[in-house]
Amino acid sequence: MNVFLRTALTCFLLASACGAKDPIPKTWPLQFHAQSYQNNTAGEQSIIDLWYDHVNGRNLNIIQHQLGNKIWDVEWNNGTSYYFDLEHETCNRINFPVGILRPNFLEDAHYVGVRELDGFTCNVWEKEDFITYYEDVRTQRPVAWLFFTGMFMHIMTFEEGAVLSDPQWQAPSSCFENQSELKEPRRSPLLLPSEKLSSVDEPSSRWLRSLSRSRV
Ligand SMILES: *[C@@H]1O[C@H](CO)[C@@H](O)[C@H](O)[C@H]1NC(C)=O
Ligand SMILES: *[C@@H]1O[C@H](CO)[C@@H](O)[C@H](O)[C@H]1NC(C)=O
Ligand SMILES: *[C@@H]1O[C@H](CO)[C@@H](O)[C@H](O)[C@H]1NC(C)=O
Repeated sequence: MNVFLRTALTCFLLASACGAKDPIPKTWPLQFHAQSYQNNTAGEQSIIDLWYDHVNGRNLNIIQHQLGNKIWDVEWNNGTSYYFDLEHETCNRINFPVGILRPNFLEDAHYVGVRELDGFTCNVWEKEDFITYYEDVRTQRPVAWLFFTGMFMHIMTFEEGAVLSDPQWQAPSSCFENQSELKEPRRSPLLLPSEKLSSVDEPSSRWLRSLSRSRV
């Protein structure tokens, strides 16, 4: 077989050998609902309903702690976030200098290769030593992401185009009675995973949000 034919054959069998570009994660749909299961490094389990709504500039995590409280984390693109507990009528307002995650926030992530996770064959990327993202090779749906602390979020359902109705985003009055607004810590929570804002007990979404700072 001559050199040309052999090269062509190798390229055909192994695209990466001939400079084919690494795959990039599928851009998030502009609106979706995902349910996820999470066990954090403290051994706590939670179910998170994620409602991503880029069209309306908002993102919501409803965090149900195992046999515990339920926290609503409403993030607006103008930088304001509300963390509230409807049952206990507590609320914190936090101001971020950045908006919500862009649908293509993973575009510049570093491709790691193919791995098996949760029974799926996944393409895997890392972004900023901070998040490892697993996407099903076959369907390109997210399977899980792993924070640098070892906390895994396993995506259980992924409904493209699902939108939560407007009233569900409304922060309760306790958010407006309390005039004190927490500022995002000057040092990135990315660097200080142990630093928790008072009564904001689920920093993972905040960490994720800090990724939106990085340019794509
Ligand atoms: C989460 O659960 C899995 C399976 O039980 C376990 O292997 C892993 O260590 C847990 N992660 C953390 C951060 O506790
Ligand atoms: C951002 O938008 C939300 C929802 O409309 C609103 O409650 C909040 O006050 C706004 N924040 C700022 C800083 O304008
Ligand atoms: C009011 O805000 C402060 C500071 O964010 C917080 O510590 C406190 O728990 C809040 N109070 C209520 C009733 O939510």
